[in-house]
Amino acid sequence: MRQFKTRILFTSIIVSIFLINGCSEKAKIETDIKTVDSATLSNLARTPPMGWNSWNPFGENVSEQVIRETADSFVSTGLKDAGFTYIVMDDYWHGGRDSVTGLLYPDPKRFPSGIKALADYVHSKGLKLGIYSDAGTKTCGEMPGSYGYEEKDAKQFAEWGIDFLKYDYCFCPDFVSWNNDYKMAIKRYKAMGDALKATGRPILFSICEWGPRSPWLWGKEVGGQMWRTSYDIHDFWDMPRNETSPIGILTSIDVMSDLGRFSGPGGWNDPDMLVVGLSNTGFIKGGGCNDIEYRTQMSMWCMFSAPLMMGCDVRNMNEATKTILLNKEIIAIDQDPLGKQGFRVMRKDGLEVWKKPLSGDRLAIALFNRNSTDKTLTAAWKEIELDSTMRYDAYDVWKHATAGKGLTSISSNLKPHETNVYVLTVSK
Ligand code: GAL
Repeated sequence: MRQFKTRILFTSIIVSIFLINGCSEKAKIETDIKTVDSATLSNLARTPPMGWNSWNPFGENVSEQVIRETADSFVSTGLKDAGFTYIVMDDYWHGGRDSVTGLLYPDPKRFPSGIKALADYVHSKGLKLGIYSDAGTKTCGEMPGSYGYEEKDAKQFAEWGIDFLKYDYCFCPDFVSWNNDYKMAIKRYKAMGDALKATGRPILFSICEWGPRSPWLWGKEVGGQMWRTSYDIHDFWDMPRNETSPIGILTSIDVMSDLGRFSGPGGWNDPDMLVVGLSNTGFIKGGGCNDIEYRTQMSMWCMFSAPLMMGCDVRNMNEATKTILLNKEIIAIDQDPLGKQGFRVMRKDGLEVWKKPLSGDRLAIALFNRNSTDKTLTAAWKEIELDSTMRYDAYDVWKHATAGKGLTSISSNLKPHETNVYVLTVSK
């Protein structure tokens, strides 16, 4: 008996030591995080950031010419008027890191005028310039990463006039072992978040860790305004893996479905870039989607309050692509000041209804057909968590027309993979 009691006592001591250690480690991380003042930076993204990124269409061929022409197209096509602001150079803008000064420099052939001159050009159009780096020793494309150079690189970006940093997670210390990775990711992203803050220039910080270390839990505290929730979307409708790239639009939607509570003004869940308009062209491939599927991506990203980062060559958009990307009524749902992420309220036979509260006592609902055949979806208010005694007026944001007044239910004929989006207001 005595021996038994001694054993219990000994076990309790060991467990207590373990818990105390664990707690103090956790407390230490929390203290570290608290030192990041996110107030100023979160004002950078009161609504989800909107822009364009070079990766999908240009990959390793990004150049100052492409960036300048993209800025021109933002103005001439009306993208700028629709709210698109950031033009982001992704991986491969680099020439290298100077062995004497330790400073990054751009590829001299593709960026002969340098980044400062490019930023000046983009700013002269009333737009903002973004750049890409990595929390590890190398970027995913094996260009120089910012590990150990956070302050130097942040300062350099600020001096160039950069407004946005996408920060990847390849070649990080825990990239292979996965040990303590949650803490390591916090540490690495905080190092850059702090360095950006110390520059005194507001630079939007876009965390691209892909999701395995749950960046929605700590992204805002390390200074981020958006964080990727999944691996890279390629130009696929359905490619269901989410352990590595690439995935399709459908997987990205499903990953987002449980994350709504982590997104809002100042810090947004990022289900990756829009593949709208790629049609199997550009650097990332996938086979291409049809315009109905691209319209579903735009619809759902707006229902999610997701950052809208276009990924096609906007210098050469066809009419269908323009119709999708320049629809100010769907963009208004994305940019609604309430900043709520929409959530799924009905799921039946491959048909879904998603709901998003909007400012002004309105709400958006999306009716979505996952099936590969035509379907009719009808939802009574009570089936989608609305008061069955209410009457609503519905406005169809893709048809730009009223869909009915004094309604007690909503109904749509949907083609395969199609989504219709309505704004509901209480009938007078
Ligand atoms: C991936 C990232 C992509 C792109 C690429 C560049 O890790 O998710 O969006 O930035 O790296 O190498």
